[in-house]
Amino acid sequence: MEPARPLHFELEPLLASGLPVYWIHGNHDADSDELWVRVWGSELAEQNLHGRVIQLADGTRLGGLGGVFRESVWYPSPAAARGGEPAFRSREAHAKSTPRQDRWGGAGPHRKHWGTIYPNEVDRLADLRADILITHEAPGYHPNGFEILDTLAQQMGVKVAIHGHHHDALDSSARWSEQGFKSFGVGLRGLSLLDTSTWHWSVVRPGELDQARAHRL
Ligand SMILES: [Fe+2]
Repeated sequence: MEPARPLHFELEPLLASGLPVYWIHGNHDADSDELWVRVWGSELAEQNLHGRVIQLADGTRLGGLGGVFRESVWYPSPAAARGGEPAFRSREAHAKSTPRQDRWGGAGPHRKHWGTIYPNEVDRLADLRADILITHEAPGYHPNGFEILDTLAQQMGVKVAIHGHHHDALDSSARWSEQGFKSFGVGLRGLSLLDTSTWHWSVVRPGELDQARAHRL
């Protein structure tokens, strides 16, 4: 998101409309102290969907997983360091082995790892059920995606998985029946609409790089 002002200011028109607003962070939201404060320190801190499932008024269950996989914590690929095994299973464990002066936000690890995914966060979600899973990283259909997010979506029983991070919106429909869920990317500053009565997806405003990157798949 990289908001220029605290998130509740940036999203003021949406909030004024009375719509429920939830968010997940991207990796860059932890790039500086200022960004961290505008995101995790904003008045919308409680609307963070990371690592949990909420239920909307119409009954739709929405799960979220912000951030990215990082090898220094956990990169779930056999080709990665430690054969894809995590160095830390939780934020708390990572904080404990982080020098006190490098910790951030009280009990957290170094600030940049607020944008990192930990195994216990994925495990926690895997025990929950949801209709929609919103992640920053992409599921396995994407050339830079992760099979483990397919597994997570399947365990949660989601109908639709939505991701960001790659600034593209590739057509993954050929994979949907095999995956067991629909998958969509939201492009750079793109806006899309998901109708939860029909599960129909429509792009309201294409991402700025969608066209240039459409060949990626
Ligand atoms: Fe990203």
